[in-house]
Amino acid sequence: MNEKACQPIGVFDSGAGGLSVLKALRAQLPDEKLVYVADQAHVPYGPRSLAEVRRFSEEITRFLLAQGVKLIVVACNTASAAALHHLRAVFPQISFVGMEPAVKPAAEYTHTGVVGVLATPATFQGELFASVVERFASHVTLLKHTCPGLVDQIEAGHLQDDPTRRILEEAIQPMLAQNVDTIVLGCTHYPFVIPLIRDIAGPQVRVIDPAPAVARQAGRLLDAQNLRRVPSQCVDAGPAVRFFTSGSPEKMQRLLPLLSVQPGPVEQLCWQGDRLITV
Ligand code: DGL
Repeated sequence: MNEKACQPIGVFDSGAGGLSVLKALRAQLPDEKLVYVADQAHVPYGPRSLAEVRRFSEEITRFLLAQGVKLIVVACNTASAAALHHLRAVFPQISFVGMEPAVKPAAEYTHTGVVGVLATPATFQGELFASVVERFASHVTLLKHTCPGLVDQIEAGHLQDDPTRRILEEAIQPMLAQNVDTIVLGCTHYPFVIPLIRDIAGPQVRVIDPAPAVARQAGRLLDAQNLRRVPSQCVDAGPAVRFFTSGSPEKMQRLLPLLSVQPGPVEQLCWQGDRLITV
């Protein structure tokens, strides 16, 4: 076993959305230790400029590297759109798994030729989205919606209430009127409202959550680099997941069970200018 294999995997998002990816990682790679960073001081990332999100992502990556992580999962479509190329160029010593809206499987699956994509404004602006559309979806009609306010609702733990339903109805009903049969969740927060999305869209519409595919890709990268953690060969240092937030640890702590994530201690991070530090 490679000696780095005992090290944790770093995972980050603007907030709690990346926990949808963390759950898939826990399910598929149960022997791995994880370090999760939620940049809740800056959530939502979606309405921010790509340059700003790139700055945050670079500093979070520095923090994760200082924790000794062996792989970084950018569990945020917005940060991937803004920063993935940049992070790979600036930090060649580590591999990144990023996210892009799952337009390819959607374009393969659709029978009506109409695919809905729910993602943040910054994700739609990024080159990554333009490039997946050009490569895989030039023959389908893509209906995009940014679901304003939805990330905030999910951060507040309001997964089922009326305002959340209204945001989703506004996004999905016009898509249904245009015969959509596949909806891509292009933001890692949105899998937490899948029950509501299914309720509005009905059983004939397929909803694509990319989290399991992202976890599979993380597993493939670990295998390729001989970095899978073998518990019997590692000193067991601490909890399965270390959670960090630049927002309120108490709030994050309360959110974890609402999102069906096994709770654990949440540690405080602080932005000091452009630096992210522990307190
Ligand atoms: N969860 C994120 C994403 O996948 C970010 C949402 C936000 O902060 O606006 O895009």
